[in-house]
Amino acid sequence: MKGIILAGGSGSRLYPLTMAMSKQLLPVYDKPLIYYPLTTLMLAGIRDILIITTPEDQHAFQRLLQDGSQWGISLSYAVQPVPGGTVQAILIGESFIGRDTVALILGDNIFYGEGMPGILKDSARLEEGSLILASYVQHPERYGVVNFDADERVISLEEKPTHPSSNWAMTGLFFYAGDVVSVAKEVRPSPRGELEITDVNKHYMRLGQLKLRLLGRGNAWFDTGTHESLLEAANYVAAVERRQGLMIACPEEVAYNLGYIDQADLERLAHHYARNDYGTYLQRLRAAKRAW
Ligand code: TTP
Repeated sequence: MKGIILAGGSGSRLYPLTMAMSKQLLPVYDKPLIYYPLTTLMLAGIRDILIITTPEDQHAFQRLLQDGSQWGISLSYAVQPVPGGTVQAILIGESFIGRDTVALILGDNIFYGEGMPGILKDSARLEEGSLILASYVQHPERYGVVNFDADERVISLEEKPTHPSSNWAMTGLFFYAGDVVSVAKEVRPSPRGELEITDVNKHYMRLGQLKLRLLGRGNAWFDTGTHESLLEAANYVAAVERRQGLMIACPEEVAYNLGYIDQADLERLAHHYARNDYGTYLQRLRAAKRAW
């Protein structure tokens, strides 16, 4: 399975923070936001990842993430000339996807919790149709809302409904079979002028090929599109990391635990951060010789 991170967009709700800087490069406590969706894909076992950015931000992402080989993965880059909607990720990624299955993650989504790596690995086993993850939220009207029957079969998907049919919000992580490119090509702009991923998902729902995975209360999901949600996510990460002394979304650690890099690689990587806590953490990992 391949992976795509959609890291473009205008980020207008975060202005002025995002007037001169991509949202996905903003800090979430001690790391750039994009580290979180990136490690989510890595934990799903995905090693071949396309990062889609605005034309003006592409160099900054390349400077930060390089070609991924330092973490034993392959990162490539593409631009989205104007933010025309999430479905464009699939269209822009057509040749990258080829005939493979693909996971698409919105670059501002953070997932964390007990059992999350297992859920991600399971989801990445998808062979046909599609799979979405849903999370229980207090304000479903702000999201795409999923309604489902007793067997967890999806009955409806509604974009930001005034009267939500459930409290389950569609998260920004989607898994698709290789036919998704042809499905995406059929999507027409919504009333707000965007190519909406919900229309792709509705196509699979009508065919009975939309699987649903519910994230229970042991799992945290944040989207970080507003000042409050960005701060909340940062406070959450800070609280967990300070309490446990373990990092959330550290690509070096994930790569090490998955066996993509070894102790010598970790030592080299730690050198970049010789004088700060991030480097100390990597050194500690190397010395511990085991995955937590
Ligand atoms: P949104 O939060 O829906 O949009 P945005 O980031 O442009 O922000 P705002 O609404 O404040 O203007 O986007 C969700 C994620 O998807 C985010 O990581 C940006 C990304 N995205 C793109 O890369 N291209 C797009 O065309 C859209 C709509 C979103």
